[in-house]
Amino acid sequence: VSAAPIIQPVTLAADQCDRSYDIIIGQGTLAQAGDAIKQRLGCRRCVIVSDRNVAAHYGTPLQASLVAAGHHVFEPITISAGESSKNFVTLELILDQLLARRIDRNSVIIALGGGVVGDIAGLAAALALRGVPYVQIPTTLLAQVDSSVGGKTAIDHRLGKNMIGAFYQPQLVVIDAASLQTLPRRELQAGYAEIVKYGLINDVTFFDWCEKNGSLLLDGDTEKRLYAIHTSCAAKAAIVAADERETGQRALLNLGHTFGHALESALGFNDTLLHGEAVAIGCVLASKLSVALGLCQADVTARIAAHFAACGLPIRPPRHNYNIDQLMQLMAQDKKAMDSTLTLILLRGIGQAFVTKNVDASAIREIWQAVI
Ligand SMILES: NC(=O)c1ccc[n+]([C@@H]2O[C@H](COP(=O)([O-])OP(=O)(O)OC[C@H]3O[C@@H](n4cnc5c(N)ncnc54)[C@H](O)[C@@H]3O)[C@@H](O)[C@H]2O)c1
Ligand SMILES: [Zn+2]
Repeated sequence: VSAAPIIQPVTLAADQCDRSYDIIIGQGTLAQAGDAIKQRLGCRRCVIVSDRNVAAHYGTPLQASLVAAGHHVFEPITISAGESSKNFVTLELILDQLLARRIDRNSVIIALGGGVVGDIAGLAAALALRGVPYVQIPTTLLAQVDSSVGGKTAIDHRLGKNMIGAFYQPQLVVIDAASLQTLPRRELQAGYAEIVKYGLINDVTFFDWCEKNGSLLLDGDTEKRLYAIHTSCAAKAAIVAADERETGQRALLNLGHTFGHALESALGFNDTLLHGEAVAIGCVLASKLSVALGLCQADVTARIAAHFAACGLPIRPPRHNYNIDQLMQLMAQDKKAMDSTLTLILLRGIGQAFVTKNVDASAIREIWQAVI
């Protein structure tokens, strides 16, 4: 953990009726994780689930913090890094190891890592013994501003990403901005796209802030990072609290994702495009479609694209032999498409996103035609 000063941690209540939980945000909070868990849940028997990259950096300090607070700590469970671990085989491996350690319903599973670890460890927590409490300690920017909050857990299936999962809320989220120091720049940028997304959805003032401060944040400014993480978590918590199971407004969080998922999927979910990069492109395309439909001014697209580009994010699909029919099909298959009518998030302006159905397919095709 860095020697940087600890900035006052912020605690948000993600108001989930009976399932509210705290999100602790700060610099150096990993060292306080043991105490934070003890304060809320008492002394517990804890199992850390992590991937090899993250375990190498943060496994030992987390373990030390847990032991110092008086928790019993089982031998950690470590999986291979990367999206390809979000499968049944790895899920079974985690469940096997949890049961082999004789966990009970009073044990706590601690997901230490990016969205991959958070999603699969959260699902394992939901399934083991019909539900064991878990804590998220997200270590990528994407996980800190998005996947660790909101209780969506999942693995992938050959018929689609995140197709097998559960809504299962954590008991606590501990975000340590210091862990971003070891995160590769490209991963940082990809996570930043999800931050900008919150401004685009419903907070033009935050988008203005991003335009001014995005580069500083990416270059390592701790205060900017903490402010952006806090604002993003608050935005996500508010949306999730109002609509946990995505029957309405939670779909706003998918801004840029229907276009983005189609691209990720067409490229075979490989390293050509990280998820956040696909989201950046997807937001640009959603704004282009909004302009084409006469919903918003053309300068909105220009402004969004300029900001993403300034932050090193892609704003158009990478070169590839795309097939528009396939892209259209992938968009329709997106599991967020309810009753097989395509649900899209469009913009009336920056900070004015809305959920819509029945967008004319030919208008969407024209957007793809123009960019690929
Ligand atoms: N549950 C949700 O609501 C939700 C939301 C968005 C995304 N997701 C999921 O999140 C996943 C993507 O998450 P991600 O972008 O965090 O990817 P990831 O978990 O694969 O992490 C990216 C890479 O960074 C490494 N890493 C993580 N933290 C590090 C650190 N501090 N220092 C150095 N290396 C580090 C990891 O080992 C990995 O190689 C996808 O599977 C996506 O479906 C879920
Ligand atoms: Zn996303």
